[in-house]
Amino acid sequence: MFKRMQSMQVQAVHSFQTIGPDNHDYRAIIAIHNTNLGPALGGCRCLHYAHEQLALDDAMRLAQGMSYKAALAKVPQGGGKSVILLPNKLALAEVDREFLFSWFGQCVEKLNGQYITAMDVGTQVSDMDIIAKQTVHVASASNIGDPAPATAQGVMTGIKAALDFYFSTSSLAEFSAKRFVIQGLGHVGWRVAQQLKQLGADVIAADPDKEKCRQAQALGIEIVDVEDVLCQTCDVLVPCALGGVIDDDVINQLDCKIIAGSANNQLAHEGIAQALASRNILYAPDYIINAGGLIFASNQYHRLQTGDQNSVETSYKDKVESIYQTLMEVFKLAKAQGKNINQVANELALRRLALGIELSMATKGNVYDAA
Ligand code: NAI
Repeated sequence: MFKRMQSMQVQAVHSFQTIGPDNHDYRAIIAIHNTNLGPALGGCRCLHYAHEQLALDDAMRLAQGMSYKAALAKVPQGGGKSVILLPNKLALAEVDREFLFSWFGQCVEKLNGQYITAMDVGTQVSDMDIIAKQTVHVASASNIGDPAPATAQGVMTGIKAALDFYFSTSSLAEFSAKRFVIQGLGHVGWRVAQQLKQLGADVIAADPDKEKCRQAQALGIEIVDVEDVLCQTCDVLVPCALGGVIDDDVINQLDCKIIAGSANNQLAHEGIAQALASRNILYAPDYIINAGGLIFASNQYHRLQTGDQNSVETSYKDKVESIYQTLMEVFKLAKAQGKNINQVANELALRRLALGIELSMATKGNVYDAA
């Protein structure tokens, strides 16, 4: 474990264990990757894992991703992630969620605010509300609100940056002349689809949910089969559904100029970033373009902690808009240095993490003033 922690530069891993009232053995891992910029914030996954090593890897890898995301989004948070390992013989529907999330809330509380938890795969707002009875260190209980509108705002901002960079024009006048393909019409994808239609764009989408497709058609959105969505001819492909969708098979079928969507971990492996660059497809790194939700959650969490109601909405919306500058910086650096975009984004995140620790030691001030 220590070798892995070292290679991923994970600061701490906390493990917890208890026996539930059903006599099952419950385990949880909280990985804290980096707190140079502030307390670690990241979701809690609640899943069956075939092996506890997989759970540990998941927690550390995702915690690292959160550090990079927070650094590039300029939010005063570090990166952390937690996983709850469901007992393998227990079906999801049989889990006593009141017990499980009360216990997990106590685990979070033991870390004294070093880690702030939130929703992720396998958890929902009602679980966060149970956690909130045990600890204040939770950033997606029902008193925080839905992050999807902020995430969608960030995706729209990111799409503008990608269009401006790719076509060397101002995108606002260009939307009506462009074709967008959206994979997934959920909380984020639906909002992006609506906003693109309002700007006069040609929008195509796919979702296995028939009702969502029917509503989209009523807005004038063309619906295609879920299997065909990624290979549609378009200017911008907007993945807003699943991770790992751009893989070695899909890459040869892509017929887009830009990929810019909210889905986490869109690229199946690191080599895909280079393959996209070789095909002259501009990729907006998912952890930059989908940071609106994190910006929102961090902002709302701090508002609740401090009781400060002043201009909160404006400050988070402005910060979401700054995703435009971050993406532009990464696009330009990648072009100037002849590197792929993910590589440049990771290097920038690491520089900000390093700068964060230097500045906090020197001044204890707002690290972003100088970052
Ligand atoms: P969601 O669960 O509301 O929506 C996902 C949609 O994708 C659903 O409508 C689902 O039916 C559809 N879908 C599933 N498989 C599909 C397929 N093969 N082809 C087309 N559509 C498919 O999720 P949400 O909140 O909209 O998030 C979308 C993505 O963005 C996820 O990957 C999520 O992790 C990521 N994300 C979301 C944030 C948020 O604030 N909601 C923040 C950051 C990332």
